[in-house]
Amino acid sequence: MIFKWLDERLELRKFKEKFLSKTFPTHPTFLLGETALFSFVTLVATGIFLGFLYEPSTTMVSLFGAMVPAAYASVVKIDLLPMGMIIRRIHHWSAMIMIAAILAHLLRVYFTASYRKPREINWLVGLSLWGTAMIGAFTGYLLPYSQFSVTATSIAYYMAKSMPWIGDWMSRLLFAGDFPSDGTVPRFFFMHVMLIPAALIGLISLHMLILIKQKHTEPKSNKDRKEAQGGRRLIGIPIWPEQAVISLSFFLFLLFVVVLMAAYIPLNPIEMYGPPSPGTPVMRPDWYFLVVYGFLKLVPGDLVFTILGGKITPETIGGVIFPGLNFLAYALVPFIDRSKEPQPYMENPLHRPFMTSLGIGAIIFLCMMAVAGYIDVLHITPRAMTVYALVATAAAWSVSYALLRWYNGKRGNNAKA
Ligand code: HEM
Repeated sequence: MIFKWLDERLELRKFKEKFLSKTFPTHPTFLLGETALFSFVTLVATGIFLGFLYEPSTTMVSLFGAMVPAAYASVVKIDLLPMGMIIRRIHHWSAMIMIAAILAHLLRVYFTASYRKPREINWLVGLSLWGTAMIGAFTGYLLPYSQFSVTATSIAYYMAKSMPWIGDWMSRLLFAGDFPSDGTVPRFFFMHVMLIPAALIGLISLHMLILIKQKHTEPKSNKDRKEAQGGRRLIGIPIWPEQAVISLSFFLFLLFVVVLMAAYIPLNPIEMYGPPSPGTPVMRPDWYFLVVYGFLKLVPGDLVFTILGGKITPETIGGVIFPGLNFLAYALVPFIDRSKEPQPYMENPLHRPFMTSLGIGAIIFLCMMAVAGYIDVLHITPRAMTVYALVATAAAWSVSYALLRWYNGKRGNNAKA
């Protein structure tokens, strides 16, 4: 009845025939992209709740007899509300899960060569999604305005300020003046609740539109059946109702897991950290910033030089050049892969010694950089850690390459990529 009424006005039947009858190939790793998507939905829903109660201001107010910044006081009050703390934790856990899912999804796309022609553009859109999600998480760090928030944000402030030529301008744009100052929290709040979610919604929509246009890669096991059918349609299940039911069930399952985690595993207990106070305690950032944090610890403190009037400091190298080169290297992946033909199927990573061993080497290098974030507690000098990281990376790369060449030689595969 309602469908008929809407159909007469919006021609829903045409939409149903055109989009909902499409086929979705099934493979468990396709759930990684969906995990990122559903975590974003949960983030928005819980973020709306928090937005009604949070106060983006550093004006000092009284909280239980002590004078603290209003932002800090408002988050303590959220924690004291019925369901307040659990919603705050669901928000933070969902951010962590979204970033973990993005990384796992990126690795799936990389190792199965799903970035190959014609999907290079969607690889680049995906990378922008990753970068934007990281900025979203980072801007969220400051909002509770605890001791931890201020320490973590000040590292990024010095990184932004260290940019050659545009450092001063950049730090003023992002931090609304020097940090900490009264302007920073409202500026970060605007970015966190407006700019970043809008960019993520736009990029996710573009990512999905490109996916619909180009169609999904399929598992190789579909190859024979597809060729027997003339190779035109994807083999899988219809989007409506089968895939929709699977996706909804998966979303509810994910929500169940996040609620369970939020109920039992505390995250960012700001009452323990307390409001900002003089002195900078040693605090490590969340795991997804550890790579940059660890790399920064390895750059010699006296490495300062000038290029074309721009000053390069250890912060520039660790906080600007290192992440920039990383993103550039990932962006080049579809263009260094030798395959030029359109790729309808997922590749088996075992059949791609060069790209797979390159990926393994990169993962080990990044993990070693994360470990470098702990050299103070591990009592390792920066120089020794640098050597360990380089040796572990070279060993992982060369051993995996040799093993994969051997494996393919034994199977008689002429594996090149
Ligand atoms: C917020 C972040 C992201 C969301 C919500 C998202 C979502 C999705 C979804 C739902 C799919 C279809 C299912 C699947 O293949 O897993 C997909 C496919 C794809 N994604 Fe993402 N993605 C994100 C980030 C990324 C990143 C970081 C990359 C790589 C740099 C990437 C590259 C791709 C590519 C190339 C495809 C097509 C894969 C194929 O046809 O097999 N995405 N994405």
